Amino acid sequence: MTALPHNRFYRACHGLPVDRTPVWLMRQAGRYMSEYRTLRQHYGILDIIRTPELACEVTLQPINAFDLDAAIIFADILPPLAGLGFNLEFIKGEGPLIHNPVRSRADVHTLTYTDPRESLASTLTAISLVNHELASRGIPLIGFAGAPFTLASYAIEGSGGTQRLKLKQMMYQHPDIWHQLMSLLARTSGEFLLAQAEAGAHVLQLFDSWVGELSPYDYRTYVAPYTRQALDIARQARVPIIHFGTNTGGLLVDMHAAGGDIMGVDWRTDIAAARHILGADTILQGNLDPMVLFADTDVIATATRHIIDRVGHHGRHIFNLGHGILPQTPVAHVQFLVDYVHTYSEQYHAR
Ligand code: CP3
Repeated sequence: MTALPHNRFYRACHGLPVDRTPVWLMRQAGRYMSEYRTLRQHYGILDIIRTPELACEVTLQPINAFDLDAAIIFADILPPLAGLGFNLEFIKGEGPLIHNPVRSRADVHTLTYTDPRESLASTLTAISLVNHELASRGIPLIGFAGAPFTLASYAIEGSGGTQRLKLKQMMYQHPDIWHQLMSLLARTSGEFLLAQAEAGAHVLQLFDSWVGELSPYDYRTYVAPYTRQALDIARQARVPIIHFGTNTGGLLVDMHAAGGDIMGVDWRTDIAAARHILGADTILQGNLDPMVLFADTDVIATATRHIIDRVGHHGRHIFNLGHGILPQTPVAHVQFLVDYVHTYSEQYHAR
């Protein structure tokens, strides 16, 4: 990993002063961009992820289009499951499907740990290709992985669904199966993060997108030890780690205790309240409602000012959406948002 002391995202992640609030967007490479949709006419999402040249190209699409302060490697949280023995498919118009979800002790015994350096080598190669392209521009690259709980929700439910009854039945009623699965997922997630940093990722993000489904007690009892295990492995890389989830207003303190240098905040939580709860030293990332991008630019500007006014003047803030950008988002509004974050926040950082 090369140091990028002049990049404002890199600086903010290390707690250093910045000239403007850095901004990037979760899922910034994807269907809202025509360049991506064109490529998708020829390739499936897994083809793109598993072909380093294509993954590199898609990673750079939003960087070439907007003044973003960071790139995120084009991948997905689910391919690491394939390395364990899950049969993963993305169904057009529906999303991911696991054909052999874990429902029994026998199922979990069929899974085997494989080193992500082998099973996910294409993403590691893509990371070096992207870094090669970005070196002259001084833009850092984010590597990422799904957190054990969010991965388990796909591994057990088999698809994205919203109920997660099978998941919780497993968690409450079959602790031995749960433990075995979560241990495997924690190791996979942690080692994949570590491997991405070794391959050149400057910052890592752990996505625990569905963790907000849990009570704080259940989070601490059934999940936090595995998240901590994954983050402890990743921490060996000594690069900043962003810990993100949604619906986490009641979990932020416990999530932060499990690990992470920067806490992601979704829009359902007041970002100033998150700052209060987590303490002034904690670096925050977030938290515009992705649907604000469908409104007129004056509405986007007001919502953006509100976030920056409340936390931006302290520094220690990375602007982002509160969750991934939606496929129907108007591209011109993305452009507006990124530029507006920079121009509006400058007043707070003038030295
Ligand atoms: O941020 C980026 O630009 C990097 C790319 C990225 C993707 N997925 C590409 C993708 C990232 C960071 C993810 C993370 C991811 N994937 C999460 C966690 C973050 C979140 O949004 O909650 C989750 C839960 C997944 C699982 C997943 N992948 C789902 C549920 C789906 C289908 C729903 C959807 O958005 O279409 C995917 C597919 C997927 N992953 C797409 C992209 C660009 C769309 C695939 C397509 O091109 O058809």
